Amino acid sequence: MSIDYRAEIERLKEKLPVTVVGHYYQRDEVFEMADITGDSLELARKCKADNNPWVVFCGVGFMGQSVKVIAPEKRVLMPKIACCAMARMIDGSYFDDSVNYMVERGVPKENILPITYINSDATVKAKVGEMGGMVCTSSNAYKIIEKGLESGKKILFVPDRCLGQNFANSMGLNSCVIGEGECDPKEADVICFNGFCSVHQLFTLEDIEFYREKYPDIKIAVHPECDPKIVEAADFAGSTSQLIKYVNDLDPEQKVAVGTEYNLVNRMRQGNTYVLSSTKPECPTMNETTLEDLYLTLKSIEDGAPINEIVVDEHTVKYANLALERMLAIK
Ligand code: 13P
Ligand code: SF4
Repeated sequence: MSIDYRAEIERLKEKLPVTVVGHYYQRDEVFEMADITGDSLELARKCKADNNPWVVFCGVGFMGQSVKVIAPEKRVLMPKIACCAMARMIDGSYFDDSVNYMVERGVPKENILPITYINSDATVKAKVGEMGGMVCTSSNAYKIIEKGLESGKKILFVPDRCLGQNFANSMGLNSCVIGEGECDPKEADVICFNGFCSVHQLFTLEDIEFYREKYPDIKIAVHPECDPKIVEAADFAGSTSQLIKYVNDLDPEQKVAVGTEYNLVNRMRQGNTYVLSSTKPECPTMNETTLEDLYLTLKSIEDGAPINEIVVDEHTVKYANLALERMLAIK
């Protein structure tokens, strides 16, 4: 006999002291089951404020880890511990190498303020926290970099070179990318690690030209994980929640092509909203979580044998928490 996953998930949510969390990039059927939805900043804030002792997080690994770091007393399970490809590009030793790169080129360690995009492992966040740095998301990167600059230090931005460069450009700052051409940390304000999101690299200038030729009045809206060339050519760049607001605020007759993850764009608005790509830009790791996985994870709590629990060691929690809390303190 086959299991009615939706009905079972509803039953388990009713019975257990658990909150199901879903990022906007989740498959529709999983997203619809979530009690809390949002982009990465909203989810961090909402999970911190939530009272249930159990969290089942449908997203990618760093998101579940962030909840564990912000609220270590919670038991955090993930139906799939899928790792964001960008977060996987940097670990503690690559972070140390980046700091050393700057030190060897004449910037003393005490003059470096690291900022890590939330799309990074907790061990990287801990290193950032230990050096007095902060986490940012694509929703608040402008404010966090602005705050960081108040220290008078050079900003080391990891791991997303696109986000780092895009915000530096929008603030009129000089940036460079370690390993890409001449990157002199003494000349630049923001020194970026060379990481990127493979999904957001799919959007091209040809895609923008295609839509502008087809619909001359169309608006182009993209996520700041896109390449700086794309952000510069677009009408609007913003985080997931900012993109949703931008599209919702448009006149219903206004056509818009959106350059971000497919599940989100598909859900955004019917009719005049287009995916800014000839491909289907799905995030493979966000798409790993299925209804069955969600059901099995909730069932494991009911059975007293929880699966896929997020564990973060004490030292990492202590310092990653500093970096996350410094971000959350900035409104
Ligand atoms: P948001 O911070 O906009 O949720 O983005 C997370 C992400 O992984 C984008 O690719
Ligand atoms: Fe990571 Fe890119 Fe997927 Fe976002 S879309 S979770 S940055 S791989």
